[in-house]
Amino acid sequence: MPQITTNDPISSDRGTRLNNYNHFSVQPICGALGAEISDIDLTNIEEESCLREIHDALMEYQVIAFRDQRLAPQQLVDIGRHFGDLNINPFVEGLEEAPEVMPIRSEENHEKQFTGLWHSDLSWHKNPSLGSLLYAVDVPVSGGDTLFANMYLALSTLSSGLQEMLRGLDAVHCLDRFNADLPRHEDLAPDGAIHPVVRIHPVTRKEILFVNEYFTTRFDNMTESESAPLLKYLFENSVRPDFTCRIKWQPGTLVFWDNRCTLHYATNDYPGQRRLMHRITINGDSPGRLL
Ligand code: SIN
Repeated sequence: MPQITTNDPISSDRGTRLNNYNHFSVQPICGALGAEISDIDLTNIEEESCLREIHDALMEYQVIAFRDQRLAPQQLVDIGRHFGDLNINPFVEGLEEAPEVMPIRSEENHEKQFTGLWHSDLSWHKNPSLGSLLYAVDVPVSGGDTLFANMYLALSTLSSGLQEMLRGLDAVHCLDRFNADLPRHEDLAPDGAIHPVVRIHPVTRKEILFVNEYFTTRFDNMTESESAPLLKYLFENSVRPDFTCRIKWQPGTLVFWDNRCTLHYATNDYPGQRRLMHRITINGDSPGRLL
C-alpha cells in the first residue's frame, strides 16, 4: 500500500490556488479554508498519483470533505494509513474490530452532546497529531456541524510586532481542562507538553499559530494568570468568522483535516438527537520553529 511521506512538497502554495487535480473535482467551501472533493470513491485510491493529489488538496485547503462514501471501520483505517501511522487514544476506547477507530457518540438520552472547546487533536502530546479523519455514520436532522479555523491566517494577520514576540515563546499544552482525573500515560510529560507558540509546517514551510483554548494553559516560564490575557486574545482572534469554515454532515461524509494548521469545534446544538462519528487520528512529529 503506497504511503505519502509527510514532508512531500506540494505543487503550489496556498493562496495561489493553481493546483490542477486529475483524480477528482475540488470546490472551495469558504475563502479561509476548506474544500469539497467530489467524483472519487475513497475505497479505490491505491494509485500513488491519486494519494498525492489528496495530500496536495489537504495542503492547499487544510480541510477536505468527501461526500457519499461508504466506509466500514477497517476501510477508514486503510485510508488513514496512506498518510501516516495511526494513533490509539489512551483515554477513549476504540472499536473492537478496529481499535484505531475512536467512536464519537451522542445518544438521544444523553444529557450532554459530545462537544469541546476549539482545539487541535492531541496538542497535549509531545508529538501532536498530523491530521484526523472523521466519518459520519449517523447525524442529527439538523445541528452537530463542525467548525474549522485556519491557523496560518490566525498568525499572519497579527501585527508584525506581536508575531515577532510570539516567535520567542513556548506554551504548555495539557489535559487539565479535559479531565483532571485522567490516568497518567507514558507519552504525557507530568506537566504537559511544551511546544513553540509559532510552529513551522513541515510540508508548506509556513508559520502557524499553535495554541488552542482546550489544551494550552499557559506560556512556558509564566504563570497561568500572567499568560491568560494574551492567550485569551489569541484564542478569540483565531476563530474570527473570517478565518473559519463550517462542515454540515450527512451520513457518509468523510472530512480529513490537518491538525498542524487548523483548530476545530464540534457544535453542541442537537439535544435529544443521535450523532455517531468514527475518527482516526494520524500521528505527527514534534513541532519545530523557523530557524
Ligand atoms: C473532534 O473534536 O475531534 C470531533 C469533532 C466532531 O465530532 O465534530
